[in-house]
Amino acid sequence: MNDTEVAKSADDLRPGDRVEVEIGPVAHGGHCVARYQGRVVFVRLGLPGETAVVEITEARRGSFCRGEVVEVLRADPRRVEAPCSHFRPGGCGGCDFQHASGDLQRELKASVVREQLSRLAGLDRPVSVEELPGGGFGWRTRVRWALDPEGRIGPRAVRSHRVEGVNPTEPCLIAAPGLNELAATVEVPSGVHRPASAGSQHRSGRQVRGRAARPELPEVVLTAAGDGRRLAIWPDQPGTHQVPTVTEHAIGRDFSVAADGFWQVHPAAADTLSGAVAQALTDLELIGASSWDLYGGVGLFSEVLAEAVGESGTVVSVEGDRTASALAVQNMAIHPQVSVVLGSVEKVIDDLPDTVDVVVLDPPRAGAGPALCEQIAARAPAVIVYVACDPAALGRDTAALMAAGYRLDTLRAFDCFPQTHHVECVARFLPA
Ligand SMILES: C[S@@+](CC[C@H](N)C(=O)[O-])C[C@H]1O[C@@H](n2cnc3c(N)ncnc32)[C@H](O)[C@@H]1O
Repeated sequence: MNDTEVAKSADDLRPGDRVEVEIGPVAHGGHCVARYQGRVVFVRLGLPGETAVVEITEARRGSFCRGEVVEVLRADPRRVEAPCSHFRPGGCGGCDFQHASGDLQRELKASVVREQLSRLAGLDRPVSVEELPGGGFGWRTRVRWALDPEGRIGPRAVRSHRVEGVNPTEPCLIAAPGLNELAATVEVPSGVHRPASAGSQHRSGRQVRGRAARPELPEVVLTAAGDGRRLAIWPDQPGTHQVPTVTEHAIGRDFSVAADGFWQVHPAAADTLSGAVAQALTDLELIGASSWDLYGGVGLFSEVLAEAVGESGTVVSVEGDRTASALAVQNMAIHPQVSVVLGSVEKVIDDLPDTVDVVVLDPPRAGAGPALCEQIAARAPAVIVYVACDPAALGRDTAALMAAGYRLDTLRAFDCFPQTHHVECVARFLPA
């Protein structure tokens, strides 16, 4: 430790203090767990097994602290130099693992999935996270960035409202080609108002607790569509404006998608996940079967199900977003066996046909929830394929499905979001 670092009691830790710690296991959320005199510190920018000086960024009275590595004293051999200028203490909150090699990142994510399944569902099973083609950078085809009072556009800084302005000379390295240029040149439409001043912002621009403390900054969705177009959509733009539709390509066909609507953000993810869902169904005789595609979006997995059940079967896609649902109708028009229901899954499930053989569900980050899992299990499908973007939600819902008579059969995990802590899982459940 040098002069600026303090050896103080764990109870007295305050933001700005620097402490030396041994970094422990990775935890869900992109940080590792360390202890300083027994007090838990969630540490960003460290790796398990490292010794580091950590600057405290948040200290909740009587509870845990948060901190960031500012100096590595003993490094993991697979630590790498982060290539992005925005990846630094107090910097961009979009990436978590740029300081780890790609294979180490996938090991960290695998251990999080394994730990969540163990803690929440009591399962102990090996997990490996599969790499997607295309490399670790330049993959993010959709970003939702904020506009700050100075006119900068970019992702928000970690646990803060401050905008990390990006441009072609200081680009976001995970953004798809063209998006940094678009962020630097896009015109703000009249009616989208910049906040008047930075006066309401947190002085340091860092470590504001929770999202509630964020001022309302206008946001822009930048899309690098599969059809080559680069588009900027301002969701806060007042009045009626038509959001353009773009064309994305996956599993050998085109899908129409709203430029600001849901589509997998990694260019290889739609193919990869559809392949994993198809694989989870291959050894089952499904021609003529009835199926549900819950949280169906514009119909990606309905396409897989339509193939699996054939024209003598049925697919009911349920999607809550009006635009996505309308586009699913359009995209699935070639499959007479597919019908699309607009509505929230939780509300419409009771109105769906009583018997179902196959359920695919791909909920947003919060997961389906135990109540919905019980309702699905009560219909006694022969197989449930759960596509999950949050390992904690998957762990909780796995426990609910197990309690309702299902067992986790196969589990694949994919690195659809390199450099971040996010990971996508495809889990197959069969009757126990
Ligand atoms: C993770 S996306 C999956 C979309 C699709 N399966 C795909 O891969 O393209 C989740 C989808 O669920 C929709 N959604 C979110 N909450 C919902 C709800 N409660 N009921 C129905 N749909 C919902 C969203 O609009 C979004 O299209």
